[in-house]
Amino acid sequence: MVGRTVAAAALSVAAFAGSVVAQAKGKATRENHCPADSPCAGLYGDCGIGAFCLGGCDITMSHSIEACVPNPICKKGDYKMNPMDDIQDIGKYLGDNSKTNWQAQGKPIKYKEEGLLLTMSEDSSGTLLASTFYVWYGKMCASMTSSQGKGVVTAFIMMSDVKDEIDFEWIGTDINTVQSNYYSQGVTDYTNTKNLTVSGGTLDFHDYCIDWSPEELKWEIDGKEVRSVKKSETWNSTANHFDYPQTPSRIMISLWPAGKAGNAKGTVDWAGGEIDWNSPYMTNGFYNAGIRDVTVECYDPPSGAKKGGSKSYKYTDAKSPTNNTIELSDDFVILGSLEGTGEDPGEPSKTESSSKSTNTALQVPGGIIGGGARQEAPTGAAGSSAGGSGGSSGSGASGDGNVVGGSDFTQGLKGPEENKSLGVSIEPGLGKMGGSGLAIVVAILGLIAL
Ligand SMILES: *[C@@H]1O[C@H](CO)[C@@H](O)[C@H](O)[C@H]1NC(C)=O
Ligand SMILES: *[C@@H]1O[C@H](CO)[C@@H](O)[C@H](O)[C@H]1NC(C)=O
Ligand SMILES: *[C@@H]1O[C@H](CO)[C@@H](O)[C@H](O)[C@H]1NC(C)=O
Ligand SMILES: *[C@@H]1O[C@H](CO)[C@@H](O)[C@H](O)[C@H]1NC(C)=O
Repeated sequence: MVGRTVAAAALSVAAFAGSVVAQAKGKATRENHCPADSPCAGLYGDCGIGAFCLGGCDITMSHSIEACVPNPICKKGDYKMNPMDDIQDIGKYLGDNSKTNWQAQGKPIKYKEEGLLLTMSEDSSGTLLASTFYVWYGKMCASMTSSQGKGVVTAFIMMSDVKDEIDFEWIGTDINTVQSNYYSQGVTDYTNTKNLTVSGGTLDFHDYCIDWSPEELKWEIDGKEVRSVKKSETWNSTANHFDYPQTPSRIMISLWPAGKAGNAKGTVDWAGGEIDWNSPYMTNGFYNAGIRDVTVECYDPPSGAKKGGSKSYKYTDAKSPTNNTIELSDDFVILGSLEGTGEDPGEPSKTESSSKSTNTALQVPGGIIGGGARQEAPTGAAGSSAGGSGGSSGSGASGDGNVVGGSDFTQGLKGPEENKSLGVSIEPGLGKMGGSGLAIVVAILGLIAL
């Protein structure tokens, strides 16, 4: 398994360099929360600081409800993906979403005048774009194409920090279909999947919309409604609640290697088989999917919601995160550096390179988290060490989540590349690094992984 090899490499590099590196801690769960020195739980239970406390910070597994910064409120807009100056690498983003509406993991590149390409080269974890704002009901549309090939999955999903999810997912072996799905609080019930036909095929640009209101969820393709689910139809009498997405969610668009060798069999099968890294569907060494733009319409928050402000959505109950335990608030947190957390945001460091970090906690989630529930980390793994958790279906690339910075992610990754032709060659981007020892270890890791 790549994840284990890289983790081992990380530890030996750290030992060699004489520096201390955070040992991958056990996964947090709703029963076993993150510790005080790494208080923020990423979507798949890894604990950390910095970027872990921004998007995707799960209050149900974090050290405290304050560890996760409040979710920035919905921002209406027509977000053009060209030029790409509205996208910041996750290793640089500190929470000021007045300057940046999208954060990226992996490698988005400019594509002609049309927009951008999400790229995925061998042994990368693909590319994920996530909005820096959240939507608590609204209509989101993306003009995009899918990738093609066994094991290659393109996704346009809404995902909340407590894993409510609404999906469009394209399996690379079927270019006439997009799968629609939704999940409630990360319960991996795959029976809600429904295939939708895309006339003309998914390799051309089409408009895909998710229209999400408190009572009804609709999927649209090119302006035509193709599926709807009413909240009233989703009552779960065992759990005594509606299995309906109801918490503030980020927009995530990704290309990810569901069929990567070593992933759970269920995930690989679902994705059409193992990825062929010498596929004719690759161009210049990578698979790609294109995005032109994303439009966002924000619906009013539910009339019954508690309104204490207008800047963020805040959970008021870490145990039972539902539509009833979210309030509008004026709280807004920008971290001073990637050493900050919601509990202690910290001061901005004066010079990027002179800051001597002694903090060994993970600062940026590893791997790609664009796979939603299909990529969920194995459950019940609390207390186990890196890669040691038991298998379960749909674990996707979760192995990467145990690794410092992930298998291909480098902190301080160079910004998105400008190139007007598809002939762009993808070089490993070891751009400016942050000053911390972790960043250096992560960078070395990046080299090893390549
Ligand atoms: C959807 O289509 C895929 C092939 O693209 C097929 O394997 C799967 O069984 C279909 N799912 C449903 C729910 O019809
Ligand atoms: C109802 O909720 C329980 C607990 O979350 C879950 O295990 C079960 O799969 C849900 N039932 C259905 C039909 O989705
Ligand atoms: C949350 O959902 C329940 C069930 O649909 C509804 O009765 C309640 O009014 C909703 N709460 C808010 C704040 O909208
Ligand atoms: C863009 O790609 C072309 C073709 O590979 C290459 O010749 C050119 O140098 C690239 N431009 C930039 C700015 O990277």
